[in-house]
Amino acid sequence: MPQSAKDKSPEELQNISTFLKKDSLGEYAGMENLFPAEERILSEYFPRTPARILDIGCGAGRTTKHLVERGYDVVAGDLLPEMIALARRRLPGTDFRVLDATRLDLPSDHFDVVWFSFNGLDCIYPFSHRLKALKEIHRVLKPGGLFVYSSHNILGRCTRISRPILPCIYHYHLGFLYHSLKKSLLQNYWRERHYEDGWLTLYCGTPRRQIKALERVGFEFVALESQVGRSLSRITWKDYWPHYVAKKPMLKEAQ
Ligand SMILES: C[S@@+](CC[C@H](N)C(=O)[O-])C[C@H]1O[C@@H](n2cnc3c(N)ncnc32)[C@H](O)[C@@H]1O
Repeated sequence: MPQSAKDKSPEELQNISTFLKKDSLGEYAGMENLFPAEERILSEYFPRTPARILDIGCGAGRTTKHLVERGYDVVAGDLLPEMIALARRRLPGTDFRVLDATRLDLPSDHFDVVWFSFNGLDCIYPFSHRLKALKEIHRVLKPGGLFVYSSHNILGRCTRISRPILPCIYHYHLGFLYHSLKKSLLQNYWRERHYEDGWLTLYCGTPRRQIKALERVGFEFVALESQVGRSLSRITWKDYWPHYVAKKPMLKEAQ
């Protein structure tokens, strides 16, 4: 259990305990490749080397490996020491640290890119803690630096009928409705099973809400990337976890 567990909500502690089970640790340890949208973001938006990258929520180091291979100066962090142990085994010599995105023990204005891949930000509950993480990420970025992440989108989930219809309605729609109504109305979190490991409570706002939250903490929205293209309206209905690129604005010149 991470040291910072004392200020975590019961939902987040449940997420942590789910991630610590065998199948979840095995899933992240076994993943090697980048998703196509991640490949595009790396080639189109990431700066050239040398550049400093914070790979937060790095899990067992799937994305870290690709950053290190491309020659970036990488700090990779995860809330869970168990994930960091797996990552160190995969990439000995890389700067892996136990880090909590909601209070980053890192200097301000330091990184060219912060990357929170594979919906890791969505594990942070409640929304006020998510905003805290967004503010911390904004703080550690240099002016002009990029924040890259992916996040669940409930409307994209609604049109994803990849399971038999009844389990799909139960899993995605009723589960979301129940969880949203149980707490404050439409709080944009849902609960799902992760293998047999337990429950995850995950954020799942629409792309418009994501962009609003980014702007609320001072980011400029740059782009949406997805396997269904880049149009906001298309992504809203078709992609259940699109990728976002946002920028910390440059400092205004003193008059
Ligand atoms: C879905 S996994 C993705 C792991 C890795 N990024 C990948 O793509 O394979 C999400 C990761 O986010 C981490 N995480 C969740 N909350 C975090 C927080 N507050 N700070 C840092 N990492 C966090 C979890 O421990 C988990 O390893």
